[in-house]
Amino acid sequence: MVALETFGLTKYYKRGRVKALEDFSLQVEGGKIFSLLGPNGAGKTTLIKVLLGIAFPTRGSARLLGEDISHYQVHRHIGYLAENHRFPDFLTAEMVLYYYGKMAGVSKTELRERIPNLLELVKLQEWSRTKIRKFSKGMLQRLGVAQALINDPELLFLDEPTDGIDPIGRREIRDLLQELRNQGKTIFLNSHLLSEVERISDEIAILKSGRLLQKGSVEDFISVRNQYQLRLQDRQVSLQEICRRLEIPLRRQAEDYIVAVKDEQQLNHLIDELRRNRTIIQAVIPRKITLEDFFIEVVRDKQEGQQ
Ligand SMILES: Nc1ncnc2c1ncn2[C@@H]1O[C@H](COP(=O)(O)OP(=O)(O)O)[C@@H](O)[C@H]1O
Ligand SMILES: [Mg+2]
Repeated sequence: MVALETFGLTKYYKRGRVKALEDFSLQVEGGKIFSLLGPNGAGKTTLIKVLLGIAFPTRGSARLLGEDISHYQVHRHIGYLAENHRFPDFLTAEMVLYYYGKMAGVSKTELRERIPNLLELVKLQEWSRTKIRKFSKGMLQRLGVAQALINDPELLFLDEPTDGIDPIGRREIRDLLQELRNQGKTIFLNSHLLSEVERISDEIAILKSGRLLQKGSVEDFISVRNQYQLRLQDRQVSLQEICRRLEIPLRRQAEDYIVAVKDEQQLNHLIDELRRNRTIIQAVIPRKITLEDFFIEVVRDKQEGQQ
């Protein structure tokens, strides 16, 4: 099932002077954790606002759970945690969930059952009658997630849910999101925190200056196809000769070499040749980069391309 689809979605502010989102097309499968990554000002919040009818698109269209975004009834099945949300701080955790539940059209009977369950899910059951002005940032974010779940949504939008939270608080939110995904919910996460996203996302898209740069699974991003790191005992001279002969690009990386082969067959051919020269091969390692390296590479490439 496709949970979310956008078609050339575009949003300009200030009569076109600010291009917050430009020709953005994306498809998100249901039942997954999808993360939209991008530096501050990339357009992540704008996308959520347009999808939820808080801002109108300049051009393009989008569908949530199969419904055009202009059909607001679909909001019944959607949860939303805004970036930097503020709940009135004289309320208790229980009261926050009660008021937001009423606003979302959930009945009193359902709320009576759901509120204690949600407070337990986000580990705030012991704080249910405490005024939230006493809460830490992490507790407020967990309450925010509970609020987003009050109407038992299928699709959840969370805008920077772990921003400004300490490592333990982040871990708790990550565990919570995984638990929700296991329950079959689709989670759309906005984040500028790469290492966070790398740990929990099934799929990632990178946004920069309103444009979609790349989309794929975490694995797609971090493995560099057909590049291998070779660790040899001495005899590197033969490697250079053989690579020149086989036309395989080669470069040094500290004590090792990186080769960029065409395919596995060529890699094996290279290994055969090295062995014929009696080179001792200590390791052949498929090359990987961290998502952070990749992200910085992508963002920098594009910047240079635009200049
Ligand atoms: N209401 C608005 N009016 C004018 N410009 C805006 C408005 N909202 C966002 N922007 C601009 O649009 C761009 C994208 O912002 P935003 O969607 O908040 O990015 P992100 O969430 O990725 O940090 C930024 O340049 C921001 O300054
Ligand atoms: Mg934002």
